[in-house]
Amino acid sequence: MSQADIQLQIPSVAFYIEPVRAFVGNLAQSLGFSRKRVADIQLVLDEICSNAVHHGSADATVGVKLRISIDTDALEIIVRDTGGRHSGEKNWLTHERLSEIEMNRSPSNESGHGIFIAKSLADMHKMQPNRDGGTDVRVAFRFSKPRNPEI
Ligand SMILES: Nc1ncnc2c1ncn2[C@@H]1O[C@H](COP(=O)(O)OP(=O)(O)O)[C@@H](O)[C@H]1O
Ligand SMILES: [Mg+2]
Repeated sequence: MSQADIQLQIPSVAFYIEPVRAFVGNLAQSLGFSRKRVADIQLVLDEICSNAVHHGSADATVGVKLRISIDTDALEIIVRDTGGRHSGEKNWLTHERLSEIEMNRSPSNESGHGIFIAKSLADMHKMQPNRDGGTDVRVAFRFSKPRNPEI
């Protein structure tokens, strides 16, 4: 069970990602992550939130939910969207679509690297369709040493 849970909701607009990034960066720093790891966490959060806004939201009003959990051994972040404008399958990321996306990723393309970055930098990365018709992306970053359970 997590020691602390923080829940946030932002409009599905890129403008609101930066304040969330700043908040999570400060939190990660206070939790004792190294400067480099804080930058990794912020980059992953940026990519996941941009995907939720750009691919997983039908319009600006639907919003993106974040749940940040602090555990004894890791910081976990879940980003939940409600699904994009496409009808049917393309709304959320099925495993088949994910494989297809990964197969088509090319280093020479400007876009298409967000999921790869998140998977490479997070200690755990999971994506699954949710009940709202969108995608839940779950990432975790392990602490280098166990944390004081009092905080
Ligand atoms: N939350 C999401 N909901 C629906 N589709 C998504 C979501 N996140 C990613 N995708 C799909 O995966 C593709 C790859 O995402 P990503 O690697 O971040 O590259 P990019 O965002 O530059 O296209 C996106 O183009 C989109 O089709
Ligand atoms: Mg992206």
